[in-house]
Amino acid sequence: MRKIALCFLAFILLTLPSLADEGMWIPMLLKKYNIEDMQKAGFKLTAEDIYDINQASLKDAVIGLGNEGSPFHHFCTGEIVSDQGLVITNHHCSFGMIQAHSSLEHNYLRDGFWAQSMADELINPKITASILVRMEDVTDKINAGLNAGMSENERTKKVNEICRKLEAEAVKGTNLAANIKPYFNGNQYFLSVFKIFRDVRLVGAPNSAIGKFGGDTDNWTWPRHTGDFSVLRIYAGPDNEPAAISDKNVPYKPAKFFKISARGVQEGDFTMVFGYPGTTNEYLTSYAIDQIATVEDPHKIKIRTAKLDVINAAMESDELLRIKYAAKAASVANAWKKWQGEIKGLDRFNTVDNKRVLENNFNNWAKSNGKTEYIGLTDRYKALYDARKEYILAAAYASEAGLGGAEIIKFAREIEHALTNYDKFADKEQLKKSLKNYIEAFYKDYDVATDQRILTEMFKLYNNEEIGEQWIPSVVRLSPKYAKLNDYDRYAANLFKKSIFTHKDNLLKFIDNLSEKSITKIEKDPILGVATGIYTLYANKIRPELSKIESELKLLNRLWIAGLMEMQPEKTFYPDANSTLRVAYGKIAGYHATDAVYYMHYTTLKGIMEKDNPNIYDYNVPQKLRDLYKNRDFGPYTQDGEVPVCFIATNHTTGGNSGSPVLDAEGNLIGLNFDRAWEGVMSDMQYSPEICRNIAVDIRYVLFIIDKYAGAQRLIDEMVIIH
Ligand code: ARG
Ligand code: ASP
Repeated sequence: MRKIALCFLAFILLTLPSLADEGMWIPMLLKKYNIEDMQKAGFKLTAEDIYDINQASLKDAVIGLGNEGSPFHHFCTGEIVSDQGLVITNHHCSFGMIQAHSSLEHNYLRDGFWAQSMADELINPKITASILVRMEDVTDKINAGLNAGMSENERTKKVNEICRKLEAEAVKGTNLAANIKPYFNGNQYFLSVFKIFRDVRLVGAPNSAIGKFGGDTDNWTWPRHTGDFSVLRIYAGPDNEPAAISDKNVPYKPAKFFKISARGVQEGDFTMVFGYPGTTNEYLTSYAIDQIATVEDPHKIKIRTAKLDVINAAMESDELLRIKYAAKAASVANAWKKWQGEIKGLDRFNTVDNKRVLENNFNNWAKSNGKTEYIGLTDRYKALYDARKEYILAAAYASEAGLGGAEIIKFAREIEHALTNYDKFADKEQLKKSLKNYIEAFYKDYDVATDQRILTEMFKLYNNEEIGEQWIPSVVRLSPKYAKLNDYDRYAANLFKKSIFTHKDNLLKFIDNLSEKSITKIEKDPILGVATGIYTLYANKIRPELSKIESELKLLNRLWIAGLMEMQPEKTFYPDANSTLRVAYGKIAGYHATDAVYYMHYTTLKGIMEKDNPNIYDYNVPQKLRDLYKNRDFGPYTQDGEVPVCFIATNHTTGGNSGSPVLDAEGNLIGLNFDRAWEGVMSDMQYSPEICRNIAVDIRYVLFIIDKYAGAQRLIDEMVIIH
């Protein structure tokens, strides 16, 4: 009997499907935790092929895109696809660069951009590309400097101190950069060492009608037909090492680049996404999720809806306004739409209730095992979230409707900030010059009338009863003069009329004639007054309360994960995303979206033609693409006679994973990750393998557009394509 049972058990273990799907795994730990499961799921390579510090591995071809000031915060991922540092990432990742190079004369958003030769590739100041050199678990080194008696603030200070020291030691005498981040809410720490390149140029991008096809209408949804890709190139100094932007720089020769598979994908095929997911919150408690879904998100959605109504109307009215506001609108709309999907998904999957069950189990386990450090933990969570509600709402309004509402508010604060130590500036001319550049850059993408309308709408919303009276800054309330007619329009108009910040020429003149005396005048500016009023309330009253609560939560969060790990010792936990390099693996798969609806795993050019509608901006297909389709001029980039456009898979991804390579079982590039499907966007808080899908643009569509549509053969020639 026992023998039969054992055989049966062995049988079950052997036939158990790969766990896959959920999880964003640490490259250096794949060997320990994942590789067997990955191979069971069909992966043909080894853990060392993915991450190795002694020889070239796939990680050497993955780049994190960042900004000069924050190179460790990777806003997107990209991958190297040639031995000359050619990089592919998403169109929406380069959108800011494409937009910055655009004007009415050179409208690259509308027309696309393809550098004819390397000399034509466009410089993007401030963009960085990081390549991971190595990782190290530094948990013990950090814990060695901590003790149980420390307060949370002391602990944080000490951790930072040790981290900065270890980072400095790790890269001493090299041109590398190191960064330590907490994992599992501070239960573990890993150091990442990067080589950071600072000369990243724009090589090509399709026009928005392809790169952003479907626009914000289709964003976060499947079926999808977006050609969301662009091409960059990393330049290095003549020694192949990172260098400041210079015309002496040469294309970077990478240790590794991805080969491209044009062989296509089938449902069930193994896929892996290798990139830099930004933030997830898989271990939040029911209290946190409930607050996000019922308090924070609904208000933020409401504020952004008002903002978008104004911006979209402006963009519809005028081509120049469309260019100016394209990138801003996309970024406001992106989170706005995601929050709505997230609320729906959390509701549909009863996430709050599921978390409550887990919390109950946890409490019972803690009590029956006498785990005193965990007893009462969930009650403390409840109390803290109850207290947090008021402040998080006040903070949401301060940031979404106030400081991050009308742009002029932030602009006024920044100019004032730059002038605070005017008397101490040795080189006053330099200061003036950089301020004037800043003003010009701001005004390039700014429209006074549009922003005035935004301010009006923001102030209307700010004055609502759900935020406690004391959290509405007085500068946002109407003075008696306007209050009688409830006239926010005239209030905003008056502010805009009297301010210097809304008058570019006057502002530039003011900077030209700067003096200690003239600066005092700016302090009386009405827009700056509003900005300061909002900021003061936020910084003096709201933020301190919130930080106190957040710091207590930080301690609970650390305990909570430690407790969960203790309670479920057989489970392999993955850490939340934190903008460090991760591997997600799963398979190509369609899904049942709702009752009676099954979505297939890929879309084709045919679907673009079906959506084609010249009267709808998001669906207006370029004539050239129509012609290619009509003539069925597809080159070798087809599957069953059609050009594949996008596909979906079960890889666990999030923001920051955009542009990530989607790889097949042999580590060849089959697509670029760029989004997730609507029904599963709650995956940042709860992943479900039935419904969560990442969306990728098929590499064959990328090649088809580069080759047949853009005629940029020189780029195709650089790549290694397996047919
Ligand atoms: N939803 C995708 C992501 O979060 C794409 C965003 C860019 N596209 C857009 N229409 N705003 O980044
Ligand atoms: N679109 C996201 C990005 O830009 C990816 C996602 O959230 O799924 O990283």
